This record gives sequence, structure tokens and C-alpha cells, in this order.
Amino acid sequence: MEIKIPPNKNCVIRITYETSKCATALQWLLPEQTFGKIHPYLFSQNQPAHARSMLPCQDTPSIKSTYSAKITVPKPLMALMSAVPTETVDCGDKRQFLFQQTVPVQSYLIAIAVGNLVSKTLSPVSKVWCEPELIDKAAYEFEQTPELLKAAEKVCGPYVWKIYDILVMPPSFPFGGMENPCLTFVTPTLIAGDRSLVNVVAHEIAHSWTGNLVTNCNFEHFWLNEGFTVYVERRINGLLKNESSREFAALEGLEDLRQAVDVLGSENPLTKLVVDLTGIDPDDAFSTCPYEKGHTFLFWLEKLFGADKFNLFFKSYVDKFKYKSISTNDFKSYLLSYFQDDDKSLQIDWDLWLDTPGMPPIIPHYDTSLQDACVALLERWTKWDESGEEPFNKSDLIEFETNQTVQFLALLLKVDNMTLSKIKAMQKAYNFNGSRNCEILLRWLRTCIKVKWLEQLEWVFTFINHSGRMKYVRPIYRDLYAWQEVRVQAIENFEKNKTSMMYVCRHTVAKDLHLRD
Ligand code: BES
Ligand code: ZN
Repeated sequence: MEIKIPPNKNCVIRITYETSKCATALQWLLPEQTFGKIHPYLFSQNQPAHARSMLPCQDTPSIKSTYSAKITVPKPLMALMSAVPTETVDCGDKRQFLFQQTVPVQSYLIAIAVGNLVSKTLSPVSKVWCEPELIDKAAYEFEQTPELLKAAEKVCGPYVWKIYDILVMPPSFPFGGMENPCLTFVTPTLIAGDRSLVNVVAHEIAHSWTGNLVTNCNFEHFWLNEGFTVYVERRINGLLKNESSREFAALEGLEDLRQAVDVLGSENPLTKLVVDLTGIDPDDAFSTCPYEKGHTFLFWLEKLFGADKFNLFFKSYVDKFKYKSISTNDFKSYLLSYFQDDDKSLQIDWDLWLDTPGMPPIIPHYDTSLQDACVALLERWTKWDESGEEPFNKSDLIEFETNQTVQFLALLLKVDNMTLSKIKAMQKAYNFNGSRNCEILLRWLRTCIKVKWLEQLEWVFTFINHSGRMKYVRPIYRDLYAWQEVRVQAIENFEKNKTSMMYVCRHTVAKDLHLRD
């Protein structure tokens, strides 16, 4: 749609519109798709380019504006938005919720959720929201939010969004988290019971600066959003725990990056830090590359200039570009001018970092103290000749943090000569089937598929049918597709379940399964 504005005049444009039933940003859930199973639910996911399906807007991250909204919903439903709630008005069997976002935001940050929602207060500025069935567990899982927020301010500067709430979404939410301002959306798969996945909350908090204040001007520069945010996420980890924990998270990320580069191919232009999206839907280009290659670059720069200097530069970069949308060149020019008297900047090969496909050109040396134990346990398994009594049991993992178990499984997935009988012995020793941590389940079930353990298929389908998080669903469907004997079963399972999947998950899985959407 094109609106011609008379030259040299200020004008107000009013548009009356209605969204179509199949707006790609929106998922309308039936009661049975929620935890409570009594009330319907609605949520939006506008990033990268779905805001246009929900409301008329200039749907590009290079334009920002404030917004306000008045949302009317039937009782007892509750409406939330990526803004500050200002008023609730009772209207008989309905209620009206008013919102105001006074910080200018790009269209993909406009978000709405409506459902049977309750909250618990975590601090004067933070609440956690979800369906009543989950609230106690959710409040426990995310109790550290106020500390994470404080740590993030130390890295990035003052928090400008007034409130920071978390909304735990229904299972079909396609991402781990989405940084909607004032109200992060998170997948319920984060509720592992042991707070082992709060790095996702740290990540979404970090976007309050990198992404939401300093914004990529388009999705070719997506690494400015995500690489920077992973960098801040791990700085927060360093402040709350310690440097080895931070660097161990980087090693885990590097393993994910190797996987992604493997799947895409090391010559694939989409593995560059800055990509060319001409003719490519940003939903289809999504991968871990901008996240982890971006993080690697920033970590390397930190080591190059030294943490003290780089940390100051980082804060000043956020301050310089807050409320703006920028390209990689803006970052590069600012860094070069900031460090103009420092010869170290001559060591940066920009083309190699930004414009070359494959793994990062240099991989910094990370502290391996937490990784070593994972490697050692894996070696015991690979060297075991399967004779005699099994030398493994649950106590092998007793000293491990949850993320070390995740990394043990990530490294296991790379081993090519694992036998089915060893993997069965591993289930007996460690009972990974019984884990409540989805990062563990993902890697474990992929290993089971790799060794073609047929009886595990039931667990595999349960796993992918109960969560719509693409990080889990897509690799499993791809693995099943590659396993000739079960391909048909996988496609049948997809066809049966696709109506309950959100648009973007259905669309990308259909592609992974080589089906027409
Ligand atoms: N902004 C992203 C999610 C996203 C990206 C949605 C692109 C649509 C298009 C969010 O901040 C994110 O990166 N989530 C990750 C968290 C992880 C890296 C800690 C996720 O969903 O797994
Ligand atoms: Zn992110």
C-alpha cells in the first residue's frame, strides 16, 4: 500500500484495517493447545518481517516509532504488549487494556499476547507472567532476573525501558526467547526446574541495548543484533559466575557453530557474518552463524585491545548508536576512530571476519577447565571395549553442572563410531530419557537417531510434538528425514501435527522435509 503525503505538510493518517485469519505473525490457539486447556490464547511473533501481517506499518528495522494501544478482550482473558501497561477499564463482560511504548521501536518489536494470564512479582520493575498452572515453577526458574538486569547495566549502561517482565508462552512458541521490549517472551522449555537455562533470559535482557536500542538496519546485518547480544549474555555470565563459566559457554557455542557450518556447508555465503539476502526470506536464512561467529569476533577484539579498553569502547558504542539503526560499516568506522591511536586495530582483517564463509578465521583460546571433564568422560566411553561389567554409572555426572552434561552430549554427537549397544548402556547408566532439560534431550535423542535406535522413536516424537521450538524440532526432523527407514513416518507425523505449529515452524520444517508448504 502506498500513501501519498502532501508536500511540506504535517498530517495525521488514520487507517481502518483488519488482519487476515492467516496473518503469519499471529498464532490463534485453541484451549487444548494451552496449559490450562480452558481458554484460547493469542500471540504474535513479528521478527524478522511479520509485523506487516498484523498491522499497517513501515516494516523495516531501519525505522523506529513510539506506539500506544487499547486492546479489548473478553473476561477473564488478559492482554499484554511490548510496552508499559497504563490502565485497565472494565466494560461489562469485556476488559480494555491500555499500553504505551514511549521509546521509539522498530516494527518487529511490536508484540501482543492474550490469554488466561497471572503474574508474580520478582522486583519493583520485574514480574513473571504465565498461565496459572505454571506460575510457581516459572517464578522459581526466573528468580535471578533482577540480578541479571543489574549485571547487564554494568556492561551496557542504564536500562531505559522502565519495566522488564517475562511472559512464559504456550509450547508452540517457535523460539527460545524473543526480546519484546518491557516483556520478553520465552518458551516454556526453559522451565527445567534447576535454573540451568537462564542464559536465555540473560540473552533477551541483553537485547534491551544490543538490538532494541542499537538496531541492525536490515537483516543482512543481523549479527549486530545477535552476535553483540551473545557477547553481552556471556559477559553477564562472567559477572554472575566467573570467567571460566563464561568461556565454557563460548566453547559450547563454538560446537553449535561447527554443527551449523556443517549443515550449511563451509562455502555457503549464508555462513558469512554479513550476508546478502537478495531474494532470500530472512526466516529461511536464520542460523546460529550470526550469533556465534559474531560472538567470536567480539571476544577476539576484546582480547586484542584488552578487556579494560574494550569494555569502555563497548559502552560508548551503545551510547553512540542508541535509538538508531545501523550497518556493519557504522560499527567498523566507529571502532576505527575510537582506537585510531592504537596500532592493534591494524591487525583486524575485516574482509576475513565479515565477508568470508565458514568457521571464524581465528578461534581465540578459551579456558577449557570445565570442558576438560566432558572430554575425559567421553574418552572413557569411546575407549571402552564393551567387555566385562559396565564401568559407568550416575556418579560419573555428579560433579557436572547441567551445561557440562549438555556439552558432553554435544561432543558425543560428533563421534562417528558409537555403537547402538554403547548408547543403550549410556541410557542405563545415566537415564537421559528421563531428563527434564530440553538441551540434554535434544542432543541425546539426536544421538539415538544417529545410532538408529528404533525403540527410541516414541520418545523422539513425543519430544517434537510437545514443543514448537524450532531449535529442537528442526534438527530432529532433518535427522529423521535422513534416516531412510523412518522418513515416511516422520512426514506422517508432521502432517498430523502441522496445524498446531506456528507459521514459521511449519514453514521451515516443511522445507527441511522437502515438502511443499
Ligand atoms: N531475537 C531472537 C529470536 C528471533 C531471531 C526471532 C530472528 C525471529 C527472527 C532471540 O533473541 C534469540 O536469539 N533467541 C534465542 C536465544 C538464545 C540465543 C539464547 C533462541 O530462541 O534460541
Ligand atoms: Zn537474540
